[in-house]
Amino acid sequence: VAPTATPDPAGPLSVEEAILASFVPETRHDPYPAYEVLREAGPFVPGPFSLQIVSRYAEADAILQDSAWSHANEPAFLHPDSDGSDLPASFLWMEPPDHTRLRRLVTKAFTARGLESLRPRVEEVAREIVDDAIRAGETDVVEHVAYPLPLTMIAELIGVPPEDHASVRAMSAGIARGLDPDTLLTPKELQARVDGAAHFRDYFEKLVAERRARPKDDLVTALAQVEAEGDRLSTGEMIATLTVLLVAGHETTVNLLANGVLSLARNPDQFALLRANPELALPAVDELMRYDGPSHATTRMAVKDMEIAGHSFKEGDGVLILLASANRDPRAFDTPERLDLTRYAQSASVPRHLGFGVGLHYCIGAPLVRLEMECMLRELARRAPVMTLLADPPPYRPNIVVRGIAELPVRFEV
Ligand code: HEM
Repeated sequence: VAPTATPDPAGPLSVEEAILASFVPETRHDPYPAYEVLREAGPFVPGPFSLQIVSRYAEADAILQDSAWSHANEPAFLHPDSDGSDLPASFLWMEPPDHTRLRRLVTKAFTARGLESLRPRVEEVAREIVDDAIRAGETDVVEHVAYPLPLTMIAELIGVPPEDHASVRAMSAGIARGLDPDTLLTPKELQARVDGAAHFRDYFEKLVAERRARPKDDLVTALAQVEAEGDRLSTGEMIATLTVLLVAGHETTVNLLANGVLSLARNPDQFALLRANPELALPAVDELMRYDGPSHATTRMAVKDMEIAGHSFKEGDGVLILLASANRDPRAFDTPERLDLTRYAQSASVPRHLGFGVGLHYCIGAPLVRLEMECMLRELARRAPVMTLLADPPPYRPNIVVRGIAELPVRFEV
């Protein structure tokens, strides 16, 4: 089934309509009713590109933690950074031992403890952003609230100077859109991904040469040193690693921040709760990730024949895992359709959400996301008690893998 038609909005969706509604741009603003139909249809539903759709929590969680399922043997059209450009794929698409070798080189830069030293800087940037939003009164949250913090922080960590932030952001958007399967992209979108990859290759080659000449305390310098030592990191791998960190490091968090403002503006009781209890800001990040996180889909291929929940898979069969659907599965979460900022504060027995994935490929940036989002939530709750949506629902980008709002006009009042 190729997702090409628009479902009839009247009445409950059939399974076929739900498959379409899970992926077409017309329903990006609310794919959750479609996900519910898929969950009820069974643990595996035949979907687009001969992939079985996995929409329930238990199977999604189990597959992501099982080494019998791999990212490495996926077909080329699912691998955005191994296309027309001559970049090697980043470690997101690898399995051990290469995945382990490359991931280990950057893990240290993203531990929660290590990132704590960045907190004053994150707070400072969040404060400036909220100052500007309040001063403006009415503002597009995506452009002026959600983008600046993650872009500034990941760029500073990597070592991208401020004058390059705008060009780096423009190129990242093309790569993020290009995460969706090739067959769903227009020729222009495919070209934007190739251009983005080429831009980053040239850009990082130049930056690495500069850091070799004048080392700084940043990731470009750290990776350039490892590469220079010899056999642990090739030049191509270094560039692919910097590119995936830069793109994943802000394109996703932007959407979490924008979704977060939308969710809190739609649920003023929860925003009031946060204002009265600022210590909820950290557990609120995970609830906002669960409730409406940006990562909606990922894929895996079977590396051997196996049977799960009565379904037989052959080696090479693939699954499309709907992470955002698993996060709304009533089999795993009580009242999953309710935003409850105390959910992760109250009980250690609430299942972890799958918004950052799980297992070997668990998001390396999760501690950075938590820090950025916590600081922004605290700042908004303290300074901007009234957030009024000026368009609801707002327009969404067509992206499936990383779903996000295109524009979110909001009035901020103190
Ligand atoms: C992996 C989501 C922010 C870097 C992942 C995965 C998910 C995810 C779901 C696993 C994908 C899979 O299993 O196929 C998110 C979300 C974010 C976010 C929702 C923000 C709200 C970040 C940030 C960084 C980052 C800030 C960079 C510092 C990565 C990398 C991987 C990854 C490098 C690959 C890890 C591996 O393969 O071992 N992310 N991410 N992400 N993320 Fe994030």
